[in-house]
Parts: sequence; structure tokens; C-alpha cells
Amino acid sequence: MKLNRLSNNFDEASASYDQHASVQKKTSEHLAYLCSSLPEKPKKILDIGCGTGFTTLALQKYYRNATYTLCDLSKNMILSAKNKIPNQIYIVGDAENYTFNDTYDLGISNLALQWFENIESFLSGILLQCKYFAFSIPIEGSFAAYKNLFAEKNIPILAHHYWNIDALLALAKKQGDVIRSDFKRYDLFFENALGAAKHFKSIGAQGMTTPQNKIKIAARLLANPVEINLNYDIFFTVLWKK
Ligand SMILES: C[S@@+](CC[C@H](N)C(=O)[O-])C[C@H]1O[C@@H](n2cnc3c(N)ncnc32)[C@H](O)[C@@H]1O
Repeated sequence: MKLNRLSNNFDEASASYDQHASVQKKTSEHLAYLCSSLPEKPKKILDIGCGTGFTTLALQKYYRNATYTLCDLSKNMILSAKNKIPNQIYIVGDAENYTFNDTYDLGISNLALQWFENIESFLSGILLQCKYFAFSIPIEGSFAAYKNLFAEKNIPILAHHYWNIDALLALAKKQGDVIRSDFKRYDLFFENALGAAKHFKSIGAQGMTTPQNKIKIAARLLANPVEINLNYDIFFTVLWKK
């Protein structure tokens, strides 16, 4: 997805994000927990794709005195994070192409890397700046019921290709030593597909634009009174670069 469309979507969602991003809050807490027993206490921490700040807030429970740098593509997300977490360092920018002028003891990214063009090259670069790097990402099989409903009618609905867990683990191992990894499923239930679509929009994660000739079919599928389970299948890892 084009970067300006992506940042507009997240700018618009910044006001509704906290109310609807219950899974992102839980995964932030789990990712922070996986980072809570690092061999060395991090003093400088970089939060990539920080959104409204859930992940930094979760990490502050363990590393209260660290200095945090929060980076996000969306200026409104950064404003919201800054309101909650004042007196830190904030960067509005595309983390995939940004030159960070500092090094960090820990980098962290919760549910943001799925938006990146090339995760592999991002990881190899960021591990030169961060001694430890922890991330979570949805994997293959996520949102299956929602995706399949539209796939049957050949309507593209989600913006991402999701990696499978073995490929991700292999990728992580290529970049550094995997010191923690985990998998968890989080389920959200909606009355129908429209509820699921509204959920994605309220957190800024709306997917593809429906082709003009399929708009009526898509509208029918969205309104079908069939309960939809959005399964977020999430891979977590903490990497260390010697
Ligand atoms: C689903 S939200 C997750 C936010 C936060 N980490 C959390 O756990 O609540 C994804 C965030 O990644 C940001 N993002 C997407 N692509 C980005 C990029 N290339 N550089 C920086 N941030 C990006 C979006 O603006 C959005 O705020």
C-alpha cells in the first residue's frame, strides 16, 4: 500500500484506535513481558510503529527509567503517544527508510512490520542500530474466515501477504540469535463481516479497495448476518545481534 494512503488511514484512526485495539494492547503487553528479563537492563529503547504508545507504556512497567524514542509514520499517532508519554523523543517518519542517528539497547515493534515492504532488509539494518530487537507480527492463517468469505468471490480484502511461522523463524535466525519466540491466538467476534470491516477501519488497518465491478457483491457479503471470528495469529520474537 502506498505510504501516503497508509499514513492517512492511521492519521484518521488515531482517535478511535485505543477503544478498538484490544488485541494490539494485549500483544504489546506480551511482547514487553518477553523483553522483561533481558540479560542487561536497556537504557535507550526505540519503539517502531509506536501507534498511540501501547508498547512503550507496557515496557515502562519493566524499564521505567529508560529513554524512549517513539517512531511512527502517522503524525496523529505520534501526537496521541506524546500526550500519554511526555518527555521522550518522537520521530514522524517511515522507519523502513529512516536513518536513525543513534544506537539503542532495545528496539521493539508490535504489530507494525506487516506494513513494511521488505522485513528482511529492515531487520538486518535495524539490528545494526539495536542490540536487541523484539517484534510481533500476524502470520499466515490470520483472519481466515473473513479472508475466505471474500476470496470465494475473488475480491481482494486484506492488504498483506502473511508469512508462515517457519519462514519467519528462519528469517529471524538468519538475522540474529533468537533468544525468545512465542505464538498466541487472539479471537475477536463480530455479528457480521461489516462489523469486522469497521473494526479494521477503526484501527487504521483497512485493506484493499474493492474493484468497482464487485462493489455490490462485497456489500452483500458484508451485510450477511453470519458471525465472523477475526483470529489474530501472532508470532513474537526477541533477537539479539552479537
Ligand atoms: C497496528 S498499529 C500498531 C501500533 C502500536 N505498535 C500498538 O501496538 O498499538 C501499526 C502502526 O505502524 C505504523 N507504521 C506502518 N508502517 C510504518 C512505517 N513504514 N514506519 C513507521 N511506522 C509505520 C502505523 O502508522 C501504525 O501506527
